[in-house]
Order: sequence, then C-alpha cells, then structure tokens
Amino acid sequence: MRILVTGGAGFIGSNFVRVLLMDYPTYEVVILDKLTYAGNLNNLSSLLSSGRCTFIRGDICDPRIVRRAMEGCDAVINFAAETHVDRSIIGPDAFIKTNIEGTYTLLEVARTLPIKRFIHISTDEVYGNALSPTGESRPSLETDPQRPMSPYAASKAAADNLAYSYWATYGLPVVITRCGNNYGPYQYPEKQLPLFILNALEERPLPVYGDGQNVRDWIHVYDHANAIISLLHQDGSHVHGEIFNIGASEERSILHNAGAVLDHLEKPRTLIRFVADRQGHVMRHAVNASKIKRVCGWQPRIPFAEGIAYTIEWYEKNPIWIAHIRARSNEFLQTALNLAA
Ligand SMILES: NC(=O)c1ccc[n+]([C@@H]2O[C@H](COP(=O)([O-])OP(=O)(O)OC[C@H]3O[C@@H](n4cnc5c(N)ncnc54)[C@H](O)[C@@H]3O)[C@@H](O)[C@H]2O)c1
Repeated sequence: MRILVTGGAGFIGSNFVRVLLMDYPTYEVVILDKLTYAGNLNNLSSLLSSGRCTFIRGDICDPRIVRRAMEGCDAVINFAAETHVDRSIIGPDAFIKTNIEGTYTLLEVARTLPIKRFIHISTDEVYGNALSPTGESRPSLETDPQRPMSPYAASKAAADNLAYSYWATYGLPVVITRCGNNYGPYQYPEKQLPLFILNALEERPLPVYGDGQNVRDWIHVYDHANAIISLLHQDGSHVHGEIFNIGASEERSILHNAGAVLDHLEKPRTLIRFVADRQGHVMRHAVNASKIKRVCGWQPRIPFAEGIAYTIEWYEKNPIWIAHIRARSNEFLQTALNLAA
C-alpha cells in the first residue's frame, strides 16, 4: 500500500509514519508537508533513509503539488494543520487557510483519483465542552453537536463537515477521527506537556492557565497511531462516512500534569506559575471511544503514568533535537519557555 501522509513532519504525523513503516514492511509513504514552524525534518531523519518514505515540501492548499503527491497513492491521511489553540486566538488567518482551504484542496484532488480511503484527522476540540445535548457533563459522543470554542476548533469543525460532505455527495471513502490530547516524543514544545517538561528540566516556571482545573483527555501518540492504522485496514462498509472518537479515558487537569512532571523530575511544586486564563477556555474535553473499540477492536495500550515517564525520558535523552528547535525558535516559543529576556 502507498499512503499519502500530509503534515508528516509534525508531531503526530511523524510518529504515525514511524509506527506504520515499522509494523508494515511492504508499505510506502509519501509525506507532503509545508514545514511551517511546527514541521521538523529531524522528526523523520531515521525514516527518510529507509527508502520507503518520500518527502515533498509543499502546501496542501496548492492543487498542483497535492496532485503530484497524491497520484499513485491508495490512501490519504490528512494530519496537516495549524494546531495550536493559543496561536489561533492571536491570529486565525493561517488556521482558516490551511485547515479549511487545505482540506478542501485535498478532497477535490482525491475525488479525481482512485483513492480507496481518505482519513481526515480531526479533534475533540470540535465538540467544545464535553456535554450531553441536555447540558450534562459527560464524555462526547460522535453524535453530539459541534460547539467549537476557538478559531482552531471552528476551522477543524468546518473541515470535518467538508470531508463528510465529500462522502455524502461524491462517495469519496472518507473516515473522520476526533482524538483527545496527544503526548509523546517529537512534540513541538509550545504544547502543554513538552513545555512543562523542558521548563521543569531547566527549573524555569511552568505556566498554568487560570486555576489549572481545566481537564483534557490524554492519549499516547502511539495509541493514536494504532487507532488510525486500525481504521485504515477496516472494511469500508464499517467505516466510510463515519466519525470515530479516539481516546484513552485518561482525564487530567493542567495542574495535575504540571505536578506529575515536577514529581517525576523531583523538582519543587513552587515552579508552578498561575497565569491569566486562555480566552474561551474549554473546561472539559473528554471523548467516549467505544465506537472505534467496537468496530475495529482497537484498545489503547499505554497508561498515562507509564506514557508520561517514557515521554519525560525521551526529552531528557534528546538534547540535540531540543537544541535544534531552540536555535530556530520564534518569539511565541521564547515566551512560552520563559526564554525571552
Ligand atoms: N496534538 C494533539 O493533541 C491533537 C489532538 C487531536 C487532533 N490533532 C490533529 O492532528 C493533526 C496533527 O497534529 P500535530 O499535533 O501533529 O500538529 P503539528 O503542529 O505538530 O504538525 C502539523 C504539521 O502540518 C504541517 N503543515 C501546516 N500547514 C501546512 C500546509 N498548509 N501544508 C502542508 N503542511 C502543513 C506542519 O509543517 C507540521 O509538520 C492536526 O490535524 C490536529 O488538528 C492533534
């Protein structure tokens, strides 16, 4: 099988390619990635030399380059996106462009080619707070309404709807996934857990929004990758035109995560620094993942306590990867890491 992976130089995309190529020795991957600030060829170094992975630098909004990358592929997995909620609050423009227009461009090209599966990677952010239709707090179901609460979440919700419409209108074999918060190796350190890990390692403050009680549903990136692989291989009659939540039922508050990182590294809790809350901050994201378990037999395998320990160790053992990110880092990251003067 030959698979186009967009956004494959980012955090989840690169981990997905690593897991896929390791477990499926006959598969080939084409990666299409614009290499924004979040894309990093160092995430792929061991993979690009395997001979089974081709890298194309390009924008998913460009139909010519998308066609070149997609021709000859059996499946498409669309990870490419602008992904940081805080950046979407400061400047939604790139989110609208990449997440909506980019997905539209991929769908348009895909419907002219013999693509057998188009997996669109969405997020539990599209649900907003995890609530039943009557307002009761409980993990989101695929049938719940979209109530996106940031420009990022709204752009992903729009892309989901476009992807679904290409199934309903043109019969494009679309599958939509909505996963909770991922953690693991190679995550750009503006995101919560690597930010906490890097700051804790150097005894800089860990910025915690508001009172730190906002909750997310955490999953190790390898469990997410395996969930996508299970959807790639499932019979189309069970998955085409369907939405699947992906989660490990590991709900943790920001404060809990800050404490877990500090405790693991034997650093003092006094490093926790409460900062002004995020605008439109969602109180609780959590997903009910029973549908993918039932349809594909997928199960998460990595408990949070184990996954966070591996993850901290990975960042401790990869100072060169971190130094490279810092060397090309931008103002946003400097501020997040408290590196700015
Ligand atoms: N990180 C999470 O916790 C999480 C949770 C659920 C869903 N998701 C979704 O998973 C996907 C991947 O997330 P991630 O955390 O790996 O993101 P990331 O920010 O680490 O990586 C995104 C990648 O997309 C590339 N990209 C951005 N704009 C592009 C464009 N116009 N054309 C081509 N490539 C472009 C970037 O260069 C980067 O390599 C996203 O669609 C995101 O919405 C993420």
